[in-house]
This record gives sequence, C-alpha cells and structure tokens, in this order.
Amino acid sequence: MTPDAAFTVSREFASTTTGRPTIVRGEGAKLFDPTGRAYIDLGATHGVGNLGANPPDVLRAIERQAHELLYLGSGYANPVRTAFIDRLLSLLPPSFGSVFLSNSGTESVEAAIKVARSVTGRPKVVAAMRGFHGRTMGSLSATWRRELREPFEPLLPGFVHVPYNDVAALEAAVDETTALVLLEPVQGEGGVHVATEEFLRAARALTKRAGSLLAFDEVQTGLGRTGRLFAFERWGVVPDLLLLAKSLAGGLPIGATVVASEFVPRFKGTHHSTFGGSPLVCAAGVAALECLVRDRLPERADRLGSSAMVRLRSLPPEKVREVRGLGLMIGVEFREKVAPYLAKLESRGFLAISAGATVLRLLPPLVITDAQWDAGLTAIEEVVAGG
Ligand SMILES: Cc1ncc(COP(=O)(O)O)c(C=O)c1O
Repeated sequence: MTPDAAFTVSREFASTTTGRPTIVRGEGAKLFDPTGRAYIDLGATHGVGNLGANPPDVLRAIERQAHELLYLGSGYANPVRTAFIDRLLSLLPPSFGSVFLSNSGTESVEAAIKVARSVTGRPKVVAAMRGFHGRTMGSLSATWRRELREPFEPLLPGFVHVPYNDVAALEAAVDETTALVLLEPVQGEGGVHVATEEFLRAARALTKRAGSLLAFDEVQTGLGRTGRLFAFERWGVVPDLLLLAKSLAGGLPIGATVVASEFVPRFKGTHHSTFGGSPLVCAAGVAALECLVRDRLPERADRLGSSAMVRLRSLPPEKVREVRGLGLMIGVEFREKVAPYLAKLESRGFLAISAGATVLRLLPPLVITDAQWDAGLTAIEEVVAGG
C-alpha cells in the first residue's frame, strides 16, 4: 500500500476528514493508518477512548454478550441493563435514583431538557456562553457558538446564555420561569475553561431557591477525565441531572441521563429510545466501569495531568497565552492560530485536536503510558519552540 492510501477523499455527508490520516486499527493509546504507521492519540477519539482503543475486558464482555442477546426493546427487563444501571448509580451520590439510557451525548441533553420542562412545567433553560451541548435541535439551542447555530435557526424558544463563571449574571437569569440550568463543569469545545467553585455553588443555590433543576453536562468531563470519576466531585456540588456519554460504554455508542430520585415521580409524559440500553452496550458499560474503578484511572488522569500542567505552563509566554484544565483535559491557548501546530504534531505522529481557533486540546486515553504521554509533551514543546 502506498503512503497516499492512508489519505482518502470521503463521500460521507458533512465530512471533516479531508487531509487527515485514515485510521484502521487501535491499540491502547496508539492508532494505526493503513500503512501501519502509528500515531499517539492525544485527542483524536474526542474523549471516547478513556480506556484506550481496545480495552480487553470490554472486548470480552461484548463478545460474550453478543452470543446471548444483542438487542431488546426497552419494554422488557434485562439483567445486564439492570446491572449496568445499578453499578453506575453505586458510583454516584445517593440522591441519584434513576437512569435514562440513550445512544449519544446530545440525546442525554435532550432527555434532560424534557425532564426539566416536564417536572417544573416551565419553559426557560439557562446555559453558558462558550458552552457546547450537542448538535440536535434542543441541545443546539443550549450550545453557544453562532456558526453552529445560525444555519439551522429558528432553534427552540426559551434558551438564554450567561457568561460562564459570572455569578451575578446567573443570579439575574434564574427566575420562577426557569426549568433548567445546564452547565459543563469544564467547558470542552468552548476552549477548556474550568468552572469556579463560586459559580457552581451559586448555580446549586439559585436553582434550589427558584425550584429549577441543575444539570451538569459531564459528557466530556465524566468518567475519570478530570482526575475524579465525575468532575462535580472536585467541588462537592451535586446536580439534579448528570449527563454522561463518550467513554461510558468503553467505545460503543451510549448516552445516560442520571436523574435525582426526588424528580422521578414528578415526570409527566414519556421518553424512549429504540436502541438505548441494549444488552450489548450495557455489558460493555459494566466492563468499562469496572476497568475505570479497578485500574484507578481517575487517579492516573490526575497524576499525569498535574505534572503535564507544570511542563506546559513553562512553554514560552510569547507563544502561549494560557494553559488551563483538570486531569487529562487540558487546553493550551496560543496567541495565534493552532492549526499549524496541530499539523506539525500530526507529522510527528501525535493526533491532538483544537477547541476554537487558538486552543490546542489534549484529551488522551487515560491509559496512555507514561512514555507515550512524555513523548507527546516533548513533541508539543518542540513544535512550540519552532521544530
Ligand atoms: C459537553 C458535551 N456535551 C454534549 C456533547 C455531544 O455529544 P455527542 O457528540 O455524543 O452527541 C459533547 C460532544 O463533544 C460534549 O462535549
């Protein structure tokens, strides 16, 4: 196979693959193109690969379950689904009592909007500027960036955005018409901005006082990414709705909307997903949660992330404006466009992503080896130095 075979022109609708390598295989934090060239995943799997590309326990669970039962309508009970929901709830504070399973992050957000509107009978959703919650019409209405929203307007009515970490603005926005306050504890797509404790505590107090629900979108921050199993543990602020997806089933499509027990009986109406909660995905989910806990991957993310922050914060300030993040969710904001740095990293065998025009975003698998992570950081240091 010629090296050019590693690059393909896609006929996929709305493809973003042009000029990027084709990836055909993975092993831990390594991704391989058709020629066998290895790349280190510093973000290419968009935070899905917390356990790496081929976690053995998850693969075994998928194989075992595939021979038992792939799919079952949600109208029938299944012990694997029950086991997965029970295990997830066992890792969360006791206020959470119920889980709606879907197939993606955006669906976990859609369900949260429906739960909050149904439970409160109110229309308003308060989200944050620079926030990202998905691309279906409800979650897109909560998403901030104009270029993502504009081509699809009109979006849902009733959504307002406040500046992130601005307590006074949040206070002004949350009122007796507010169904939901929807926040990321660390804004991912919006440039890796970490919430202040004051902001999250204010969100908790204001929603309680107004009779609104508080949802944390932990689609990107959840499951060990920020150095805790769930990012909210860092601040001890417990939401009413917790939204999870990405690596929750070790790489299979999943979304989860975890609902505090007190709101479950107040939900009116129905919500359903044909594929949500399939035995296959739930079996993978049980195995993925066990790996995360057994291998102490949140602690690993904390350790690797903390030492990386120290290194990255000594990058030359004339090139780098700021380094932000928690655990293995790190943003390096440049004083210029990030694209040329990403291209140089790619040519050296490291696949990182951006968050906006100037931020290099690092979301490596939590199982990345010390040597691979060190090599990635060295490559960043070298390309920033002009290599
Ligand atoms: C915080 C957050 N919410 C929601 C989503 C949407 O998830 P999905 O692409 O699985 O629909 C994402 C995706 O990156 C995300 O980062």
